[in-house]
Amino acid sequence: MEEKKIPAHIAMVMDGNGRWASQRGFSRSIGHRKGTETVRGAMEFCIDNSVDYLTLFAFSTENWKRSAAEVDAIMSLLREFLYSQTPEMNENGIKIDFIGDTSRIPASSQRAMEYARETTKNNDKLKVNIACNYGGRADILYATKEIARRAARGLIDPETLTEEDISASLYTSDFPDPDLLIRTGAEKRISNFMLWQLAYCEIYFTDTLWPDMDKEKFAEALKWFSGRQRRYGGVK
Ligand code: FPP
Repeated sequence: MEEKKIPAHIAMVMDGNGRWASQRGFSRSIGHRKGTETVRGAMEFCIDNSVDYLTLFAFSTENWKRSAAEVDAIMSLLREFLYSQTPEMNENGIKIDFIGDTSRIPASSQRAMEYARETTKNNDKLKVNIACNYGGRADILYATKEIARRAARGLIDPETLTEEDISASLYTSDFPDPDLLIRTGAEKRISNFMLWQLAYCEIYFTDTLWPDMDKEKFAEALKWFSGRQRRYGGVK
């Protein structure tokens, strides 16, 4: 039997909600609402396929440039999603946490985040990080500042600093690096997502818009991953 390789950690850039809505004459926020249904589907898919970690890029440090109405819609949807889905996610053994500078997120959404985090903190079937006001460069900057502070206090020696020390100072310290990144919505870029952590990640780009990602489409990504040979800079 052919061995099926399963990624331990899948990261997802959920792009295409706006286009999905425009194509149907709907407002962009309708696309984001539809996108939250796909978020549920993505979690179910990960559990069904024994994926241990999932990171979802919900809101970037650059997304504040969008209209206030769209930012409000995304924040409200996140809040609504967390309040309505947390009991079921908890029953399914999902642990929810957040990465990014969440201090800038509206207080009402922060309360929903705290509720989801607290309720699900003891679960370990699928660990999910939702990236909210997250940027890869901001992540590295924040870690660098923390390391510099520790060095200034004489707690670490810059000469013996390791890559593991940097990984341990990032928002993602309790997750392994992603094995597979899925980016929907036809664009082929990283968009400032987990720049350090994606160093050896396999990247799957699909034209499918995020709201159209169903289990079959996720399965195609997994099948593609299964055929990849990961060499980490070495030779086979
Ligand atoms: C990208 O599509 C999508 C976003 C910036 C927001 C994603 C947010 C959600 C799915 C809702 C809340 C999140 C969770 C985890 C419940 P886009 O607007 O850039 O689409 P476009 O490229 O077609 O304009």
